Amino acid sequence: MISLRPQPFTGVNSKQCHSLSPSHLSRPSLPNLSHKRPSLPNLSHKLPSLRLSIRAIDAAQPFDYESHLSHRFTKSTKLKIAIVGFGNFGQFLAKTIVNQGHTVLAHSRSDYSEKAAELKVSFFKDADDLCEEHPDVILLCTSIISTEFVLKSLPLQRLKRNTLFVDVLSVKEFPKSLFLQTLPQEFDILCTHPMFGPESGKESWKGLSFVYDKVRIGNGESRELRCERFLDIFKNEGCRMVGMSCAEHDRHAAGSQFITHTMGRVLEKLSLDSTPINTKGYETLLNLVENTASDSFDLYYGLFMYNKNAMEQLERLDLAFESLKTELFGHLHDVLRKQLFGKAEEGVERPVDRIFLPELPQNGRLLSSRSENANKETS
Ligand SMILES: NC(=O)c1ccc[n+]([C@@H]2O[C@H](COP(=O)([O-])OP(=O)(O)OC[C@H]3O[C@@H](n4cnc5c(N)ncnc54)[C@H](OP(=O)(O)O)[C@@H]3O)[C@@H](O)[C@H]2O)c1
Repeated sequence: MISLRPQPFTGVNSKQCHSLSPSHLSRPSLPNLSHKRPSLPNLSHKLPSLRLSIRAIDAAQPFDYESHLSHRFTKSTKLKIAIVGFGNFGQFLAKTIVNQGHTVLAHSRSDYSEKAAELKVSFFKDADDLCEEHPDVILLCTSIISTEFVLKSLPLQRLKRNTLFVDVLSVKEFPKSLFLQTLPQEFDILCTHPMFGPESGKESWKGLSFVYDKVRIGNGESRELRCERFLDIFKNEGCRMVGMSCAEHDRHAAGSQFITHTMGRVLEKLSLDSTPINTKGYETLLNLVENTASDSFDLYYGLFMYNKNAMEQLERLDLAFESLKTELFGHLHDVLRKQLFGKAEEGVERPVDRIFLPELPQNGRLLSSRSENANKETS
């Protein structure tokens, strides 16, 4: 029951009348929703000079119950995500995650406090402070080569007991085994690779591939839901969701992504310029250089060092280049012979010198020397 008693006016306005001191009320503490309430017009000049005071507390409070419920519902579908490694790619992801209403925290070797504030991200210089915020998800966006060091320096004991660990490294078998070796059994593990970056995903993520492998998601609805909610971030942006094992990813990525980055870097060394008569093909090459040049060398080096299939691809590329040169020079040789020997060789059938790359040995096995390969080709 609430009994209202006229009180002499003491200069307190209508808004202040709602704020009762704790000594008057012993209700359970409720979240502060004052920022959700539309601001009320100041009507104090229209009110009679009376002050209302609540004398009994067992009645329902005129509280913004609906808004409270809706706030609770929204919160339950949103995650608290801590990005570790707030460089180029970490910041790129943060923008979209914040836009989707999740709470984003960040920690990095460098101080990105200002950048984080612009993106509505809370930046923590200290990893202990970050972990004590008990995020639902730790999202590792560090360079491939620093990941082991960064992961091992995180104070895991300060996290919630079943935090979800996610990585976005461009190689997948390496973080998978690192996570399995380093993280306590109760932690969930999701290995992912967004197949796009700040350049290629600048306008939209629609139709871009997102590879993921649920390496270890513990039993229980809440743990499965947490993982799905994280994946939803990419689903909601229209990504093409591809569930794939880490090993399979690395096989495909060495033949596609590593080759792409290598060609981009080789072409970059040629300092290609745009010309007034660019063909479509040449434009594609210029775009390739632009796309790969903006990525750090650490990233490229990581693709090479931490994907066991990369070395084989580099060798294949080398052999392909050699074989193309042999083919070209073979044709040139024919032309010269014709000029030198003219009619003397007419009517003599010569085999077409079209050389294809021989099958390469399985990963991890040494390639035979160039001369051996050349012998095989000609035999
Ligand atoms: N860029 C892309 O297009 C793309 C696409 C998909 C996946 N990825 C993956 O996303 C991750 C980040 O890529 P990125 O493009 O931002 O560039 P990156 O050069 O691969 O990584 C930069 C990040 O690594 C941190 N870092 C580097 N060395 C460190 C060290 N010794 N100790 C602690 N932190 C260190 C940097 O921290 P500070 O900045 O604080 O120094 C920064 O946050 C990589 O694993 C990459 O494979 C990138």
